[in-house]
Amino acid sequence: QTTRKKIIIGNWKMFKDVTSASADFSNFSNLIANQNLNIEVGIAAPSVFLSELSGRTQNVVTLFAQNAHWANDGAFTGEISVPMLKSIRVKGSLVAHSERRQMFGETNISSGARVGALIRSGMKAVLCIGETLEQREKGKLHEVLTTQLEEAFIASEIKSASEFLGSDPKNPLLSIAYEPVWAIGTGKAATSVEAQEAHSIIREFLSSYFDKETSSKLQILYGGSVKLNNVQEYMSCPDIDGALVGGASLNPKDFYDLCMKCN
Ligand code: G3P
Repeated sequence: QTTRKKIIIGNWKMFKDVTSASADFSNFSNLIANQNLNIEVGIAAPSVFLSELSGRTQNVVTLFAQNAHWANDGAFTGEISVPMLKSIRVKGSLVAHSERRQMFGETNISSGARVGALIRSGMKAVLCIGETLEQREKGKLHEVLTTQLEEAFIASEIKSASEFLGSDPKNPLLSIAYEPVWAIGTGKAATSVEAQEAHSIIREFLSSYFDKETSSKLQILYGGSVKLNNVQEYMSCPDIDGALVGGASLNPKDFYDLCMKCN
């Protein structure tokens, strides 16, 4: 096993209003602040709340956006730039969550551009990939995952592995979230064997695209119906370095309990 730090990120998706988001974030931060943490914990909140929440992290909760545009500024109505996020002390962003791929036309190419912009700004990019049930049943798991990664990396226009890693060896700028589409919000989680198999495909690809050492430093998160009762099993797999948690992150006490299972 390596020295990769485990990271648990709650993805609040399009839930809450400013009152509940602020209260829930503060409650979660207070609970976390009282702990001796070996893991990193984060929340990816709707962009409209980020400014309010960035004052409530107590330096123990990493604040993420759910999306970030690749241009610094320009005529991109409805989008949010990396410098805007940076200016309110957001530390990184999810990229190309499957809901964005399915409903908002996000592609491997556009996701790569978003990854590139984040990393060039020294922010963490959590690139989400994963196969549909149909692709899995057709035996295309390997092909889908490696194509999603390769096309995004090329489109990021970042040339060196060291740039993807960034300057903090304990907190690489690039992370991958494996989220099988069929397991998201369905209660039908991948088994830990299925998840580990996909993660090892990803780890091998990272090794061949970059090199073994870089691959061994990058965190790969699992997402898809992660709950209090299954999170530990995922975390015990050799290539699973964290979790991206949707529904089970919405209640602060429940999410805190889930995080503590991994600490
Ligand atoms: O990004 C997290 C996610 O898509 C999984 O959602 O509700 O199945 O945990 P959920």
